Amino acid sequence: MEPGIVVVGAGQAGFQVAASLREGGYRGPLAMVGDEPALPYQRPPLSKAYLAGKTDAEGLALRPATFFADHDIARHAASPAAAIDRDQRRLHLAGGASLPYAHLVLATGARNRPLPVPGADLAGVHQLRGLADADGLKAALAEGPRIVVVGAGFIGLEFAAVAAGRGLAVTVVEAADRPMARAVSADTAAFFRGAQEAMGVRFAFAAGVTEILGREGRVRAVALADGRELDADLVVIGIGVVPNAELAAAAGLPAADGVRVDAFLATPDPAISALGDCARFPSPYAHGLPGDGTVRIESVQNAIDQGRCLAARLTGKPAAYTALPWFWSDQGPHKLQIAGLSAPGDMAVIRGEGSAFSVFRFRDGHLRAVESVNRAGDHMIARRLITAGIPLTPDQAADPGLDLKTLALGR
Ligand code: FAD
Ligand code: NAI
Repeated sequence: MEPGIVVVGAGQAGFQVAASLREGGYRGPLAMVGDEPALPYQRPPLSKAYLAGKTDAEGLALRPATFFADHDIARHAASPAAAIDRDQRRLHLAGGASLPYAHLVLATGARNRPLPVPGADLAGVHQLRGLADADGLKAALAEGPRIVVVGAGFIGLEFAAVAAGRGLAVTVVEAADRPMARAVSADTAAFFRGAQEAMGVRFAFAAGVTEILGREGRVRAVALADGRELDADLVVIGIGVVPNAELAAAAGLPAADGVRVDAFLATPDPAISALGDCARFPSPYAHGLPGDGTVRIESVQNAIDQGRCLAARLTGKPAAYTALPWFWSDQGPHKLQIAGLSAPGDMAVIRGEGSAFSVFRFRDGHLRAVESVNRAGDHMIARRLITAGIPLTPDQAADPGLDLKTLALGR
């Protein structure tokens, strides 16, 4: 077989790079190697509309099967990649087959971090990353009314909102002193805590899980470090992810907390690139953040924009990846949108009030991120302000009389 481009990982980023390669005029052999059986699909609805029964598996697919045939993209589904032979430029699959490559793209995503306590393997303990997890969780929602969620991050809160919306009794146990501490300011966290409590969700903050207790192989309660036991028919663990970087590391590529790539998404091996949740890259928006100036971003926007950026390089139009990171989360009736990257010490300025407001985050005197709650207009303006580097002072951000749209559009 003539070596072409082989993409490992048939998720959001893997799909995007393959589709953009064809769109960009690449006519050579193109293969996608995925370990899941389904067509490439979107994950966001798994904790939202799909879990709530408002869309089905077909509605999640990024494209129908005909797309891959029409674009001559060879799909190797349910075929985990096992090893990379960089000398021979071959990708070995777990089933024993191997594929030659001229260029290899690593888009292996991330997996859920396991909770290292006794009982985490009991029946009734779930995590949520893929379609199979979501199907299991949907079925489990019918098993009993008492739910304990471990982790008040995006997964925990989106799941809690859906479960509470069904009238189930949900308690969220979080190690930090507030929800979504990784991603949002104390102000936004306080709003969502209140909003979740109004939906009926209860919280235990600054809490540690010591054990998941069972009866006849099934979960019955969650034991906390302070001695409390929370009765549970179902436990959902959402305590963050770890990047799937082992394939790269085993092949001798730098891969500490993500496959290390440069601004062009290239690894030190010119025949191998990486992108999406699994990749750690230098970002112009990491200025003043803790660390070495590199980030690993877990979002759909990042997967799509990096897919397009990498495909452009592989079709002769190289450009550094500089897209502004942005995120969203739907929790019950509330929509959170985040533009940019914030750090815990960033100054916070609030615009708006009640259940519709934005928090403008300043670091080193510059606007670095904006969290918008039920204020979609602010989010779009924020993306423009940050991307274009338009000067904005904290006083201006706080001034309701200042028209930010006019400022952003330079009128
Ligand atoms: P993935 O989509 O995880 O795809 C990686 C694929 O590679 C997977 O299929 C994996 O199984 C496969 N793989 C791994 N190792 C191998 C191997 N050795 N061989 C073959 N295949 C392999 N982001 C947002 O921006 N907004 C949201 O609202 C949002 N909601 C989310 C809800 C849920 C429930 C989850 C789980 C994630 C959500 N995200 C959201 C995050 C977003 O889905 C991810 O950032 C995005 O999917 C990353 O794309 P990716 O292609 O890098 O990784
Ligand atoms: P997360 O990183 O958003 O949140 C994890 C939470 O668990 C944090 O609040 C953390 O303090 C807490 N935690 C960690 N260890 C703990 C422990 N031992 N006990 C109690 N709490 C603990 O990760 P999450 O929610 O698991 O999401 C996983 C992935 O899915 C992420 O990549 C996330 O970005 C993605 N996702 C994104 C969504 C969105 O953007 N709207 C929605 C759902 C998932």
